[in-house]
Amino acid sequence: MKADDPRWARLARSAERMRARSHAPYSRYHVGAALLTTRGVSRGCNVENASYPLCICAEANAVAHAVARGWRDFTALAVATEGPMPGAPCGACRQILAEFALDLPVGLVVGAEVRRVISVRELLPLTFTGEYLSTDGAAHTPRAAAEPRR
Ligand code: THU
Repeated sequence: MKADDPRWARLARSAERMRARSHAPYSRYHVGAALLTTRGVSRGCNVENASYPLCICAEANAVAHAVARGWRDFTALAVATEGPMPGAPCGACRQILAEFALDLPVGLVVGAEVRRVISVRELLPLTFTGEYLSTDGAAHTPRAAAEPRR
């Protein structure tokens, strides 16, 4: 989806509204995500936990929700954060998005307005994907590991 596509406006509003559902009592940084798929819009917010490392990001939440519904054809993602600087997806979320859609355009939203559109590929160059993994493990077993050193 191109940056000037009229669908961004609605997707941005949807992500912005989702921020209100965020559970962020620790960071107070409320994030909302709206993922447009060919089947519908999957939304997510960040869900924090008193055990800090267990926090779930809004983007990860929206992707998991879509996959759970059987919606795997992603068209665009809007991520709404507070301003003034629009928040970009964290490293872990970039990897989660790369699993499904390297060319997915990600709109960074503040105040229900898209400030910037950037692709997952641009966010995560030299991406590690499933293509690196062989289904037949032997083919990719490093020699050093396969043969004990003498
Ligand atoms: N957060 C997201 O939801 N998405 C991101 O890409 C960046 C960070 C959340 C995690 C945590 O709840 C809060 O923002 C502060 O890091």
